[in-house]
Amino acid sequence: MTASGHIEPSSKSLLSIDRLSVNFHTFEGKVSVLDEISLAIASGESVGIVGETGCGKSVLAKSVLGLLPSRTARYAGGGILWKGENLLRAPQRRLRRIRGAEIGMVFQDPMTFLDPLYTAGSYLLEAIVHRDEVNGRTSASHDRRGEAIALLGRLGLADPERIFDSYPGQLSGGMRQRILIAAAIVGRPRLLIADEPTTALDVTVQAQILHMISDLLTGDEMSLMLISHDLGVIASMCQRIVVMYAGTIVESGSKAAVLANPVHPYTRGLINAVPRLGYPQRTIKGIPGQIPNLLKPPQGCRFAARCALADSRCRTEAPTLERRGVSHEVACFHAEHADA
Ligand SMILES: Nc1ncnc2c1ncn2[C@@H]1O[C@H](COP(=O)(O)OP(=O)(O)O)[C@@H](O)[C@H]1O
Ligand SMILES: [Mg+2]
Repeated sequence: MTASGHIEPSSKSLLSIDRLSVNFHTFEGKVSVLDEISLAIASGESVGIVGETGCGKSVLAKSVLGLLPSRTARYAGGGILWKGENLLRAPQRRLRRIRGAEIGMVFQDPMTFLDPLYTAGSYLLEAIVHRDEVNGRTSASHDRRGEAIALLGRLGLADPERIFDSYPGQLSGGMRQRILIAAAIVGRPRLLIADEPTTALDVTVQAQILHMISDLLTGDEMSLMLISHDLGVIASMCQRIVVMYAGTIVESGSKAAVLANPVHPYTRGLINAVPRLGYPQRTIKGIPGQIPNLLKPPQGCRFAARCALADSRCRTEAPTLERRGVSHEVACFHAEHADA
């Protein structure tokens, strides 16, 4: 650990984000969207990032591959190491090579990424060609087609040949998302970053897609950075949970530690908001209030205004992550309340 309580990224980490701060420069002023975020993902590990809408999850995901709008976004500090290489200093050309070939990405809304005039198959072919270029290989076009169709079959799509030749408008939302996941993983990336991949889909399709991603993880030894506002989704998929609030990490640890012994009042609120199977009559308690305006971030703990435990220290001093157990860190001055 460093003096500030952060766990040092271990050398076996594939991805390690180290005290990353990101601001947006808007007409109204500087918005502090990420404040000293540190997290590491090891090879084969699945890490979930959870928090309400607006907490900075998508900005974090996009910052990894340099996808933030360069006109307004500023990296204000820290680094992002991919297998030891600082991606914040990498040229766009290098980032384009890493995208798809080493790190795959999937976002919430497939329609934003699928052009209605291109067939599903053309996306897969483009991803295969990119992979081959990066690896200095060439392949025959009928082999590429065969590989794409085989992959669609493996992802549980019946009639993959027809799907290959279909346009996005002819496919359901779930099928479109499967196409994008297929395009993201065809290069056999070491890490898949999935940002709310099932949020736009109904629950049955959501379960199928999550199941499909789990299968890919075990089959391909891929690491996963899964982002969701839904703690239920994160808990079903991830070994480790990182809880974000208003651009900061408030708690992180193994799934068992965070779910069985949540310490931060925000984490406890999120857990209370997940409906339990078999208890449909249980009323779900939301967390009153809303995320602070990050144009003027609060001086102390960013959660203080919504926290029943907040006192004057919380309003003036920002807590840093402190270790609670082997695999558990919390940023709260009232962490001892959890033992009571
Ligand atoms: N391009 C942008 N310009 C200005 N502010 C932005 C931009 N993109 C995101 N933000 C702000 O950053 C914060 C975090 O957004 P986001 O990462 O999308 O949240 P999440 O994915 O957790 O819902 C929000 O306050 C949002 O308004
Ligand atoms: Mg988002």
